[in-house]
Amino acid sequence: MALDLPGDPAGRKPAALKAALARVQQSVAAVDRDGVDAWLALGSRVFAGGVPGGAQRPRQLRAMPSSAGDLLDPAQSHGDVLVQVTGADKRAVREAAERVVRQAAGWRVRWQVDGFRAENRVEDGKGLSRNPFHFTEGFGNPGTEREVADRAVVRSGQGEPDWAVGGSYQVVRIVRFATELWDKDSVREQERVIGRRRDGRWLDGTPAHEQPGFAADPNGRATPLDSHVRLAAPDRRNPPPLVRRSYNYDRGDGDSGLIFSCFQRDLTTGFEAVQKRLEGEAMAKYLLTTGGGYFFVPPPGDAWIDGLFAQATGNA
Ligand code: HEM
Repeated sequence: MALDLPGDPAGRKPAALKAALARVQQSVAAVDRDGVDAWLALGSRVFAGGVPGGAQRPRQLRAMPSSAGDLLDPAQSHGDVLVQVTGADKRAVREAAERVVRQAAGWRVRWQVDGFRAENRVEDGKGLSRNPFHFTEGFGNPGTEREVADRAVVRSGQGEPDWAVGGSYQVVRIVRFATELWDKDSVREQERVIGRRRDGRWLDGTPAHEQPGFAADPNGRATPLDSHVRLAAPDRRNPPPLVRRSYNYDRGDGDSGLIFSCFQRDLTTGFEAVQKRLEGEAMAKYLLTTGGGYFFVPPPGDAWIDGLFAQATGNA
């Protein structure tokens, strides 16, 4: 869910904003236990009234722009903070989310969406699940914590403010699926749109956890050039530096799809480069992105709050 502080961001006093952020951080930390994982991420709205206390904002954090074909509903996009609460027990997750909202006094819910991961499991170090299009997702993610950190975690020396080192950019997109249209296509056609079999095997027969032979298929006979995987990751030796962790959603009345979510240490080379390549993909006609946003997950703990509000120094 995305939470906002009421009122015009431009009218905020840094001290009040700092206290409010500390309150929501504390509320999130209080439910982050007993099988529930909870974290917050800063949205660009926090910085909309100017940079609090003169501190430095994450360099690339801005309101998520519309990509070609998006229909972003402001009531379901952006926000001051994103709070994500996950766990295996649906009731525990819901109660934890409600507790955060109750305890983070002064914050109001801007938008929220419930997600789930069908057939959630770990294979070869990768978190896999089945999306509403009947395909298994997660194979293209890294399989070790080290590789995950390498793609997702902000390092020192990459131009980000000191307080942000150890954090991560999170992109969320609520993508509605034309499931009825999709389900009219044959499984074979669907597999050519994605570029993998439903179970993850490659269309040239390569097993799911190995590398396909795109170089031997320059014209896309086996794996079409406009398939999702071929555009998302054309260079198999240089996989896109992002880590995906998406959820399915179903709000009834045909409004179902994917809460796409990914983490990266650089938005330009991560999400934005891949999204740009995907503009011409065969899957585009089944997708409508209606909400989400760009967020920045601060490093663990709460020291980032002081860092964020520290006066900027000479290198600002
Ligand atoms: C809601 C629409 C989407 C669906 C249904 C979808 C589905 C899939 C599936 C089935 C795979 C193959 C299995 C896997 O490696 O996980 C995949 C791979 C991938 N997708 Fe998506 N995806 C969607 C949106 C996106 C978006 C918005 C991005 C990023 C901008 C993205 C980036 C990737 C990447 C980087 C891979 C891995 C490619 C590889 O390493 O081979 N996807 N997706």
